[in-house]
Order: sequence, then structure tokens, then C-alpha cells
Amino acid sequence: MYEQYKTAVESSNIVSRTDINGIITFVNDEFCRISGYRREALIGRDHNIVRHPDVPDETFARLWSTILAKRTYRSTVKNLAKDGSTFYVNTTITPILNAAGAIDEFIAIRYDVTKEMELQFQLQEKQEMLLWQSRFASLGHMIANIAHQWRQPLTELNLLIYTLKNAALDHQTDAVISLHRDAKTVIQSMSQTIDDFQHFFRPGKEREPFFPAVSVDNALALLQQILRKEHIHLTQQNDRDVQVLGIQNELTQVLVNLLQNAKDALISRPDDDREIRITLWQEKDAALLCVEDNAGGIPSEIRAEIFAPYFTTKHASQGTGLGLFMSRLIVEKSLQGTLQYTSAPRGARFVITLPTLKETTHP
Ligand SMILES: Nc1ncnc2c1ncn2[C@@H]1O[C@H](COP(=O)(O)OP(=O)(O)OP(=O)(O)O)[C@@H](O)[C@H]1O
Ligand SMILES: [Mg+2]
Repeated sequence: MYEQYKTAVESSNIVSRTDINGIITFVNDEFCRISGYRREALIGRDHNIVRHPDVPDETFARLWSTILAKRTYRSTVKNLAKDGSTFYVNTTITPILNAAGAIDEFIAIRYDVTKEMELQFQLQEKQEMLLWQSRFASLGHMIANIAHQWRQPLTELNLLIYTLKNAALDHQTDAVISLHRDAKTVIQSMSQTIDDFQHFFRPGKEREPFFPAVSVDNALALLQQILRKEHIHLTQQNDRDVQVLGIQNELTQVLVNLLQNAKDALISRPDDDREIRITLWQEKDAALLCVEDNAGGIPSEIRAEIFAPYFTTKHASQGTGLGLFMSRLIVEKSLQGTLQYTSAPRGARFVITLPTLKETTHP
């Protein structure tokens, strides 16, 4: 019975046994095959012969403290084969106790997960690439926005300088001084625009408590000029006390994406009937942040696809189709929330749900 059991385990797994010091006393054929060593080269050697240099000492310290405490250790381990190649094994190491309750030896049973791990790495790489691409895409949008934001003050500056020149030629000292002051104010506000955008693009901050209402403020500060130019009427009703955990700028980025989309959709509407409504409130332990427009919504045929990478109905020069994909990724992975589309009475409604720091005390 025991022999049958042993054969079954050994024929389907990678098996090794070591003594209490980690010296190999037994390996099965599978172990030899995957590690590339002959059996004679393994028996009597320290098990760390297959240790991969990438695996930190702490991992081994944890392994040893677990099994020496007579507990089972389970982990996915990166190993090094004889030919220098890497393999990944899902490992279970069990201490075998003798009648006196002392550790006799350790049995390690593993199965090969190299393919699965490689697939996972590929996916991670792809996702990172998408992230970069979308950062670049939003950078493109942002540059367009700065251009918009600057056009008006530039015109204003032009006029101020012209007037200033005339005042100077006329020797109107007071006017020159006042025009100079006005010009400086315009320049300051242009420089503020740059600061706002720079702040927005500063990457890699720590997660910390923040107010989503401030993300809304920041997103609107970045887009105000363009919304005004397109005659988009904005209403908002935000609970400014709601607090969540994460990175403020990332929520700002999501909101910028949603607002840009609403703006793009609204351009086809008559310019006296373009509305965006933002609402932020708390329900129990969830913050709900809602961006709604009256541009007609998303046709049911494409609704299932809008969150897919590269899906766009816009001209190539206008949309990469990464906005909603990225937004959902940020909300789910970084803010531990959800981003959903629902149709509103007159257009699209996107709802961001985030876990809040504390439950509401008032109903
Ligand atoms: N508020 C909205 N109203 C109508 N359609 C929308 C709205 N938001 C998104 N969509 C549709 O969903 C598609 C995908 O949006 P997404 O933000 O992912 O990409 P994009 O806006 O086309 O390009 P990008 O955001 O990369 O510039 C859009 O092309 C559009 O067809
Ligand atoms: Mg978009």
C-alpha cells in the first residue's frame, strides 16, 4: 500500500528527501530531469545546489525556521538548473517525525510551474507597456490642454505689451507701471498652469489617506479652460469629508480621462445643451464618485468593449482607446475599487466606488 502510494506520488511529481541538515538523500527521476543533474551528482550534496542566486537569504531563513518548527512549508520557488536555466516549482516541504517526535528527514514534493510563471511575467510586461503607452497618450492630451490654457493669456499678454509700448512712448509713467504689473500677473498664472501639470505627472508616490473631492478640484483645474471653451456646463455636488486611501494624483488621472471622454462626446451636441455632472457621496463604507453627461450614452453594441485596451470609436489622432482601460486598472489595482458604466437618463454615467477609511456616522 505504502509502496503504491509512493510510486503514485513520485511518478507525477518532483520529489526529493534530505536529512535534517539539508543534505540530499534521495531524488526521483523527475528531479534529475528538471534540474539537469545526474542522480550521483545530487546524492550527498547540499540541497542548495539548485538554489537560484535571485532568491534572497531571508526566503531560506523563513523556509528553515518553518520546517525546523515541524511545520509544512509551501511556496513557489525559483530554481537554477545545471545548464544555468531557470525553472519554477510549486513546492511543499514536509518534516517527517520519528516515534520520539523528532525530525527524521524532510520530504519535498514539487510540480513544475515554469510555463505558468513565464506567462504571468509576459502579462505583467504587457501591462507595464500599456501603462507607459497610456501615460504618453495622456501626456499628449495634456500638452494640448496646456496649449489651450495658454492661448488666451498669450493674446492678453500681446495686447498688454502693445499698450505698454504706447504708454511708454507717451511717457505715461503710471500707466506703464500698472500695465507691467498686469503683465506679470498673467505670466504668473501661466507659470501656475505649468506647475499644475507638472504636479500631476509626478509619479510613484506612497499610498496615503486623501479626499476624492480634492482630486475632483485638481482634474477640473486642469480641464477648466477646455470645458469653458466648449461651452460645457458643469454642476457638482461633492461631500468634501469623504476620505479614501491611495494616491491622489491617480484618481485625478481617472477623472481627467472620464471628463475628456464626456467632453469628446458632448461636442456633437448643440452648444447650449452640454452638461457634465459630478457627484461624490458616501454610503456606509464606500465612497461613490459619479461622472455623468447628457451626450446620449454608449450604444449597447459596443458597451461590452469600452474597457478593453485600444478600443476606440475616435479618429486615430484623437484617441488611443486606452483611457478607460487605464482608468479601470488604476481604480481596481491601486485604489482597490471598481469603475462601472451605467446609462444615465440622457447620457453616460461612470461610477467609481472606493473603500473609505471610516464608515459614516450619520445616515
Ligand atoms: N462619456 C461617453 N459618452 C459616449 N461614449 C463614450 C464615453 N466615454 C467613453 N465612450 C466610448 O468609449 C470608447 C473608449 O473610451 P476610452 O477612453 O477608453 O478611449 P478613447 O477616449 O477613445 O481614447 P483615449 O482615451 O485613449 O484618448 C470611446 O472611444 C467612446 O466610443
Ligand atoms: Mg478616453
